[in-house]
Amino acid sequence: MVNVIKHPLITHKLTQMRKAETGTKDFRQNLDEIAGLMAYEITRDLPLKPVRVTTPVAPCDTYELAKPIILVPILRAGLGMVNGICTLIPIAKVAHIGLYRDEQTLQPHTYFEKYPKNIKDATVIIVDPMLATGGSAIAAIDMVKKQGAQDIRLANLVAAPEGVQAVEEAHPDVDIYLAALDDHLDAHGYIVPGLGDCGDRIFGTK
Ligand code: PRP
Ligand code: URA
Repeated sequence: MVNVIKHPLITHKLTQMRKAETGTKDFRQNLDEIAGLMAYEITRDLPLKPVRVTTPVAPCDTYELAKPIILVPILRAGLGMVNGICTLIPIAKVAHIGLYRDEQTLQPHTYFEKYPKNIKDATVIIVDPMLATGGSAIAAIDMVKKQGAQDIRLANLVAAPEGVQAVEEAHPDVDIYLAALDDHLDAHGYIVPGLGDCGDRIFGTK
C-alpha cells in the first residue's frame, strides 16, 4: 500500500524545501516539522491494548500502545526525520542503518547497523527522505527483516515512481508513506523535480 499524505502544511513546508535557495537551517527545520506531521498518519492504525488505570477520580478502562516502536533512519539523510517523529513518539527506540548510494552504479553500500533488542515484536518505521531507485530502502528492509522485524513501514518525504514500484515488488508486505510522489528519475538517479541531494542539503556538505 502506498499512502501519499495530503495536508496543506506538509505541501507548504515541502515547497520551501524544494526551493534551490532554501538554506540549511530552514531546510532542516521544515524536514523536522514534516516528519512530525507524517508520524501522525503513519501511526494511525497502531494496535492498542486494554489497560485499567486509576485517575484522581475513579478507575478507568482505557487503552495504550500494544507494541514497542522502533525508528530506523537510513544514514545520513534519514537522521533529519528522527527528531520530528520522536517529538510525537518519545517512547520510540532508534536503530541506525548506514547506507550510501554509489554515485556511478547507484547500488547501496552498507557501512553501519545497530538495533535495539525487541525488533521482532515492534512496529518498525524506516525513515529516509528520498526514495529514488529504491535500492537503499530495499536493502534497509532486507536488513531489518534479517533481524526478525515483521511489522515494517517505510516513510519517505519524496519518491520517484520507479522507487515505489521497486520496493512494492521486493517487499509487498511493507506499507509506504510519502509526502509527495514526483515525476521520474533523471539519468543520474535524481528525483525530478525532487529537491536535490537531501543529505547534502541537511548537513551543508558538498
Ligand atoms: C540518498 C537518500 C537515500 C538514497 C536514495 O542517500 O537519502 O538513502 O540516496 O536513493 P535510492 O533510492 O536510489 O537508493 P545517499 O546515498 O546520497 O547518502 P547520504 O544520505 O549519506 O547523503
Ligand atoms: N538522493 C537524494 O538525496 N536525492 C535524490 O534526488 C535521489 C537520491
